[in-house]
Amino acid sequence: MHMDLGIEEIEKKALEEIAGADDEAALKDISVKFIGRKGLVTGFLRNISSLPNEQRPMAGKRANEVKKKIESTIADAIEKLAAVISEADSIDVSLPGRPGFRGSIHPLTVVNREICEIFVRQGFEIAEGPEVETDYYNFEALNFPDDHPARDMQDTFFVSEDTLLRTHTSPLQIRLMEKQEPPVRAIMPGRVFRCDSDITHTPMFHQVEGLLVGEDVTFGDLKGMLTSFAKEMFGEDKSLRFRPSFFPFTEPSAEVDISCVMCGGKGCRICSGTGWLEILGSGMVHPALFENVGYDTDKYRGFAFGMGVERIAMLKYGIDDIRRFFENDFRFLRQF
Ligand code: DAH
Repeated sequence: MHMDLGIEEIEKKALEEIAGADDEAALKDISVKFIGRKGLVTGFLRNISSLPNEQRPMAGKRANEVKKKIESTIADAIEKLAAVISEADSIDVSLPGRPGFRGSIHPLTVVNREICEIFVRQGFEIAEGPEVETDYYNFEALNFPDDHPARDMQDTFFVSEDTLLRTHTSPLQIRLMEKQEPPVRAIMPGRVFRCDSDITHTPMFHQVEGLLVGEDVTFGDLKGMLTSFAKEMFGEDKSLRFRPSFFPFTEPSAEVDISCVMCGGKGCRICSGTGWLEILGSGMVHPALFENVGYDTDKYRGFAFGMGVERIAMLKYGIDDIRRFFENDFRFLRQF
């Protein structure tokens, strides 16, 4: 068997095995296999006498070279292993460990829950609905005329001619009223989408819609409800201002401002010197909506409101760039 392999092949095989060995025991085995008393190189040397005379000196010389080469390669390999082991040994186990990362709740989730909880405590139920909407629920049933600018391709992500990503949570008003008779008292959180992007707008953001329908609902009820909400959310010392506005689905409509959370109303950079910050849109439900869902317009009145969760969170925590919410930077997120 020993003579089956030439000395060059023995060398090649030995060096390959040494390169593949990953501990000292394996290297010792290789040493025995090749240069031990019954090893391949040893056997080769012993058989040199059977070679023709003129080949013997050359074969002997090569075999001794190979033996030395194997010896020194194994020695180097053992030394290298020892170095790796002592490096591992030098790890200071008395150092304090790295603390595990503890997750925290995303600020938008915190604020969204807080908004919903405030209204749930007032007897509102929570309702949800689809993010991909039809033109009917997003616009038509909400009394948007055909040529309303909000229907423009610039603002709305259309999925097809008749389907789109909802641009607000207001379609949930219609979906809910179609399903149930008054009284209705619901809070409706969800993602909304608009073709818009800068430091105060992201293409996807969150809104919370509110709807209350009953027999004797007045604008005074709306004011009372939103005032107590704002005080719970931003503090007792805050006041609200209702500014006349326009939405197709409410009449009358009001935009609601809160006294500036930074300066308390004196006027600063955040409120552009006005002392007020806009926080939501609201109004008395337009009778056209009741007609669209088959409610008796003589009998029922309602109020509705809608607010942006990012905007509320930015004001509450003093965040100046809406994109922070979506960058997933731990340094930002872990503060909440
Ligand atoms: N849907 C409106 C928007 O996205 C917000 C809004 C305004 C909702 C007035 C309402 C409302 O329910 O009554 O800008």
